[in-house]
Amino acid sequence: MITEEKVLEILKDKQDPFLHKPLLECNAVRDLKIKDDYVSLKLAIAKPATPEQMQLQMALVNELKAAGAGSVGLRFEQYTEEEIANLSGEANKPPSLLDKNSKTTFIAVASGKGGVGKSTVSVNLAVALARQGKKVGIIDADIYGFSVPDMMGIDKRPVVRGERIIPVERFGVKVISMGFFVEDNAPVIWRGPMLGKMLNNFFSEVEWGDLDYLVLDLPPGTGDVALDLHSMLPECKEIIVTTPHATAAFVAARAGAMAIKTNHTILGVIENMAYFESKNTGEKEYVFGRGGGERLAEELKTDLFGQIPLEQPDVKDDEFAPSVYREYDRIGKIYDGIADKVISKLNK
Ligand SMILES: Nc1ncnc2c1ncn2[C@@H]1O[C@H](COP(=O)(O)OP(=O)(O)OP(=O)(O)O)[C@@H](O)[C@H]1O
Ligand SMILES: [Mg+2]
Repeated sequence: MITEEKVLEILKDKQDPFLHKPLLECNAVRDLKIKDDYVSLKLAIAKPATPEQMQLQMALVNELKAAGAGSVGLRFEQYTEEEIANLSGEANKPPSLLDKNSKTTFIAVASGKGGVGKSTVSVNLAVALARQGKKVGIIDADIYGFSVPDMMGIDKRPVVRGERIIPVERFGVKVISMGFFVEDNAPVIWRGPMLGKMLNNFFSEVEWGDLDYLVLDLPPGTGDVALDLHSMLPECKEIIVTTPHATAAFVAARAGAMAIKTNHTILGVIENMAYFESKNTGEKEYVFGRGGGERLAEELKTDLFGQIPLEQPDVKDDEFAPSVYREYDRIGKIYDGIADKVISKLNK
């Protein structure tokens, strides 16, 4: 006589051929009825109508019959996507920053041309946001021309734990850069698709924890990376950096236009290298001209968050970081003001 117990006994050592987990652990039995020597059984598996299903089916029918079943009615159905995600452990994975319901605000720092101070601004905005008590990360998205680790004085490399990369933390900011993954400052020779993959890894393979802000230091210009970023981060905000020179603002407007075209919201403009202020007389000299930041903000219909003068950071030996303006530095205070404005604009 075939009984329910016997059927379950037979099912006990059978696995889902795709999830590689015991059927009984997956709640695969959807229906089991026995009438006299007729067994009616319905099972859920990950992929029905496959050779693997056929194999499982044949094995089960044979064993059930050997155990006394006269005939067997065996049907299969597929797990729902949610069930499969749960069963395959995906639901237990840490949430990705790229998830739709991620609470992280992405802030890309862009410019029309190189050398205007994007990386300096990215680093110092990130550090200033962290000083405001925010959880902040920075991605050095300049894959070829990475500079963030050097600017922040980082000599450590990220640790790999399991399959996740733990970012390096400095001044309260979690940092990831291509610079961590190349030997001895070797040039990076990747192109196109590899580049996109690398950026993607920076989001998905890195253990960011829950971040309020993720700052992205973009490479100069309006190339591939900006486009890749758009497809990865449709909700990205952008800050455009310019120098005060009229033509610089004109070129930077192109980066602004690119942001608009890719539906990124422009958060504001930062004018860098705005003037030189003598420490002796307090007199300001507008070395690179005037008005570029204001003009650009007007053109992009956005705010001018701040103007940063020409000045090297006040570097203390014990915390060497050649491009970080600290809270005691007068430029550090300007960055604190910018961070305030950024936070309140994003909270609106
Ligand atoms: N306000 C400033 N005062 C003095 N030096 C500055 C200032 N801003 C940036 N610099 C210096 O100017 C140089 C270029 O800055 P940075 O690397 O930040 O520009 P970038 O726009 O990121 O350049 P790239 O386009 O090459 O990525 C660096 O040497 C940096 O230290
Ligand atoms: Mg740079």
